Amino acid sequence: MNILAIESSCDDTGAAVVKDGRQVLSSVIASQVEEHILYGGVVPEIASRRHCESISHVVRKALSDAGLTLKEIDAVAVTFAPGLIGALLVGVNFAKGLAFASKKPLIPVHHLRGHIASNYISHPELKPPFLALVVSGGHTHLVNVRDYTDFEVIGRTRDDAAGEAMDKAARVMGLPYPGGLNMDRVCAGGDKKAFHFPVPRVQDNEFDFSFSGLKTSVINLVHNLEQKGESVDIKNIGASYMHTVVTCLCDRTERAITQFHPCSVVVAGGVSANSVLRDEMTGTCRKHGIPLYFPELKYCGDNAAMVGAQAYYEFLAGNTAGLDLNATASLDIDK
Ligand code: KG4
Ligand code: ZN
Repeated sequence: MNILAIESSCDDTGAAVVKDGRQVLSSVIASQVEEHILYGGVVPEIASRRHCESISHVVRKALSDAGLTLKEIDAVAVTFAPGLIGALLVGVNFAKGLAFASKKPLIPVHHLRGHIASNYISHPELKPPFLALVVSGGHTHLVNVRDYTDFEVIGRTRDDAAGEAMDKAARVMGLPYPGGLNMDRVCAGGDKKAFHFPVPRVQDNEFDFSFSGLKTSVINLVHNLEQKGESVDIKNIGASYMHTVVTCLCDRTERAITQFHPCSVVVAGGVSANSVLRDEMTGTCRKHGIPLYFPELKYCGDNAAMVGAQAYYEFLAGNTAGLDLNATASLDIDK
């Protein structure tokens, strides 16, 4: 089954053709990063406008790269939630028009389910059930993936997402957008013990996260150094900060491993590209003798191939939509 998938939840316009949920025939992304760099973050109105300009070209290229015509496509899939509402609406309306005009089924895909499914592309042997750590710019979740379309959130951030905490810290350190990615590039080889940041504690649910206190402490550190006229050791501050964020992520994942004994651990979302997370989570899972999966780097950030992968399983589960499908800015992964 060939699925044409569309992704426009944030600042990347993506289209892809994916066969049977696992084989990527094409994946095209029009990135807007150069424009958002000017503002230090994603400007929603600009993102929506750029999606409008790019989407037909990106979809056409995805079809031609796959060597297929629209006739050879069996269904149209689209990210409908969660994300920037104006950005989502561009993809959703385009997909609805395409599905209607070509008389093909329309498959709505939850963005975070898509991130998890990016691992199906790179690891043909991977099947649910497993434990997933989803770490993106807007979300940090620990999820029991009971089946391809059956999710149970066991932990989530109480405040900032891991990616957001990295982006805000990077910004105060003078690193350009996207901050998490640039902090990884600039600071990965630094001394992770050079600076001490408090490891946040969360009451009531041992699988929940909190990053806002940590973010505030790095902002205060940098401001204090600047006020005293002292040099800001970006490389070592960034290395120590990333290590602390990753320690929190690994700690909660380890607690979930101990309690739920999952068959494997899957990491997904933009932050899954982080070199420190890849390194330290490998150590955590090795300690417990449990297989660990990351997406290929090209599928860590937002892309439509992951949407096409998840869409196949949504279709098999009967989850198609009518032309009344709407975009939703926030929606739990298990809804
Ligand atoms: O999943 P994603 O592409 O978009 C959302 O769904 O939010 O995640 C974007 C986030 C941003 O916060 C970005 O800074 C972060 O992923 N990110 C990274 C790295 N690459 C992207 N964070 C840390 N290390 C990286 N290598
Ligand atoms: Zn994402």
